[in-house]
Amino acid sequence: MPITTCVFDAYGTLFDVSAAAREAAAEPGREAFGKLWQKVASDWRLKQLQYSWLRAVAGAHTDFWEVTQNGLDWALEASSLSDPELRERLLALYWELSAYPEVPAMLTQLKANGMNTAILSNGSPAMLEGAVQSAGVGDVLDDLLSVESVGIFKPHSSVYDLVGQRFGTDRREVLFVSSNGWDAAAAAGYGFQTVWVNRAGEPVDRLPWVPDNTLSDLTTIPELAASL
Ligand code: LAC
Repeated sequence: MPITTCVFDAYGTLFDVSAAAREAAAEPGREAFGKLWQKVASDWRLKQLQYSWLRAVAGAHTDFWEVTQNGLDWALEASSLSDPELRERLLALYWELSAYPEVPAMLTQLKANGMNTAILSNGSPAMLEGAVQSAGVGDVLDDLLSVESVGIFKPHSSVYDLVGQRFGTDRREVLFVSSNGWDAAAAAGYGFQTVWVNRAGEPVDRLPWVPDNTLSDLTTIPELAASL
């Protein structure tokens, strides 16, 4: 079935989640953090995701902004960095993460090809609005779909249901794109056509489902969507 609708995960897929720690590390007076920022960024991301899954399983939902702060607090303590100013700076930078360089042209091409385009993310509506505005891609996205409207994080199927509810699409008309292997895999299990954007060359997640396509960045998404 031809693709009519391209849906993107936000954090790690359109927006570079390491950018906050990388940019803070380059600021004057942050030499100590400069040595630790990669570990902090990686711990922060991992804990943020673990807390989202644990809250989903436990039925203890809160929004992604709280989970993001909880993950950062764990990561800073794990690196013995107790610096409230650094914490605030990292959180502020998270609201204005850079988009990967190919994102604006890729979304513009999808819209020129007549595709519906959207984000489907754990992020709260305000976080997604902030990221999209600072990346300047609001005009080439038809909607920002947030888990907050169902009150549970990915990969719960009610999150993926939001796409059909918004666009009236069959699952096979949707190309779902995520850099999170577990998200792309779960979306494949749900019945979307899927792309895993594996920038870091990671091993495939050992789950019951496998993403249909793997790419190293987003550049060829319009071509792929037109060919399916
Ligand atoms: C999101 C996280 C999973 O944007 O990256 O939903």
